[in-house]
Amino acid sequence: ITEVQTVRKFIIDTDVGGDDAAALVMALREPSIEILGITTLGGNVPIENTTKNALQAVEECGRDVPVYMGCAKPLMRDLITADNVHGKDGMGDCGLIHPTRKPEKMHAVEFILETVAANPDEVEIVALGPVSNIALAIMKDRETMKKVKHIWSMGTSGFGAGNITPVAEFNVFVDAESYSVMLNSGIPMTIAGFDLCLGDAAFTPDELDELMISPLGRFIAEGNRVKLGFNEKLTGIPFVDLPDAVAMAAALYPEVVTEAITAHCYCCTKETATYGQVIIYDIAKPFSVKYDIPETFTKVVKSIDPALFKARLKKSLGINSEWR
Ligand code: RIB
Ligand code: CA
Repeated sequence: ITEVQTVRKFIIDTDVGGDDAAALVMALREPSIEILGITTLGGNVPIENTTKNALQAVEECGRDVPVYMGCAKPLMRDLITADNVHGKDGMGDCGLIHPTRKPEKMHAVEFILETVAANPDEVEIVALGPVSNIALAIMKDRETMKKVKHIWSMGTSGFGAGNITPVAEFNVFVDAESYSVMLNSGIPMTIAGFDLCLGDAAFTPDELDELMISPLGRFIAEGNRVKLGFNEKLTGIPFVDLPDAVAMAAALYPEVVTEAITAHCYCCTKETATYGQVIIYDIAKPFSVKYDIPETFTKVVKSIDPALFKARLKKSLGINSEWR
């Protein structure tokens, strides 16, 4: 008897900057899944921009997926943005963003709760930005959110250094209180940290130019070009990292993940210097000192196959090996 493959159902929560757009295209161009909706919030750039960018990505892919606006700012703090990394509009400031459609009237948090309640134990949420929308949904209706099948989070610095402070990664740092609520919710969750998108998983200037041979490739290459300069200023080397696309690949294509561990994760919210740091307690390493870490279990990706990741991304951009 052939096993009935149920179609996977996703909600993508995102602060669309260049790398979120790459992740959205991967999902929108994956015919085997259903995207129930895209929810936006302030993050890389203000929510007006992240929402326009999400609408544009949907339009570029010719899909009819609704977009819902959520939190303009974190729960307890002022919004910090990353327009120095993505450009003022979040997509390279090169005239890519002119959506014809509008977002839905319903608030993102209402949409998430309504959709999870209507599809118990089926909805997978891919969180590509700060998690204020998800935390608010949990605080509003914890019982319903317990019916989320899985949360895939691009967040934390993983097993590497922070990118907005020495120990914190941007998505967590923008709203660490929300990240802590999500970590402690007990919802099954996999974290793809910032460390995964560096090294061989990053795109060289030539690799970025190679994407220009298709319309979607051009949309993503141009939308991420500002990052070449940002990284060159920061490290002396021009490259484009796409952390959200790595997280989406891990969610859509399990074979991209080569190693993952199970951990108790603790998100620091109290002390300024460590605000947004996520401490990963690998349960296979019984540390003798265990201060008040939550007894929740989170999968943390330790490594991916960079070549497979790039192949999956290029395929979604309409660029496959025959093109070379
Ligand atoms: O730290 C990287 C993350 O912050 C990515 O999701 C990027 O889009 C920004 O949101
Ligand atoms: Ca993002």
